[in-house]
Amino acid sequence: MELLDGKLASQAIKDELTLRVAELKAEGKKVPHLAAVLVGNNGASETYVGAKVKACGEIGYRSTLVRLEDTISENRLLTVIDELNNDMDVDGILVQLPLPKHISDEKVITAILPSKDVDGFHPQSVGRLVLGQPSFISATPHGIMLLLEHYKIDTRGMHAVVVGRSNIVGRPMSILLSANTNPGNCTVTLCHSQTRNLGEICKQADIIVAALGKPEFVRAPMVKKGAIVIDVGITRVPDTSKKSGFALKGDVKFDEVAPLCSYITPVPGGVGPMTIAALMKNTFNACVERNGNE
Ligand code: GUN
Repeated sequence: MELLDGKLASQAIKDELTLRVAELKAEGKKVPHLAAVLVGNNGASETYVGAKVKACGEIGYRSTLVRLEDTISENRLLTVIDELNNDMDVDGILVQLPLPKHISDEKVITAILPSKDVDGFHPQSVGRLVLGQPSFISATPHGIMLLLEHYKIDTRGMHAVVVGRSNIVGRPMSILLSANTNPGNCTVTLCHSQTRNLGEICKQADIIVAALGKPEFVRAPMVKKGAIVIDVGITRVPDTSKKSGFALKGDVKFDEVAPLCSYITPVPGGVGPMTIAALMKNTFNACVERNGNE
């Protein structure tokens, strides 16, 4: 069993981006600028946005964190997006999800200019992804593809089982793994809460991507010997032995499943850091495409 170390792989990507930003600077060109919008003060969202802003600083990007009260109206938030759309210095915009219940995710995501949609959530980005056209790809599935690429895993012809059909992770993951690319070229089964015989289907998988958000759901009897297991889950579970009061749990019961695997991602330190690296890559591309500066 080999660990797919997301910290290591993401650092390699960030190091490469750091060099490329230094080149842009040396040539007097514009450096990437990411604007992150955080509505309210959800603890997990604070952590994720904090990590994104920190990564920008490490690589040499500019970043702006726009903090808004969770009582903000939908219209006011749409105005903020519009201002960021029109700000020529801003290359990428991300609105951290989830949003408060009175605000429509769909309206907000669709309001982002597609050329600044570094999260890859806009219908235009998703449509282009489905059609195999160059597009911004949602950070989590994009990060997983970068992780498979980093470890030079040849997935051609494999049976990949993706558990979870969210717009952000499961569905784009299924599209990427089935694409005529390497990594890719898998035969994909997309499973969800209504799937019958989920355990039996997982047991047939050469690759399992667990993205259902249920701690330790994937157990040893569901995993074929030699399978590659990618754990997207990161749920805060109450734990009084921790200073924070919670432990982070993946969707896979790691100790039980790991001995069966050829490769497996740890939680934390697997998929999480890769999502940041993917976002940084998207932001770089947004900058050079918008400014024609490479
Ligand atoms: N919430 C959970 N994952 C993500 C993500 O990748 N981007 C944003 N904006 N919000 C999220």
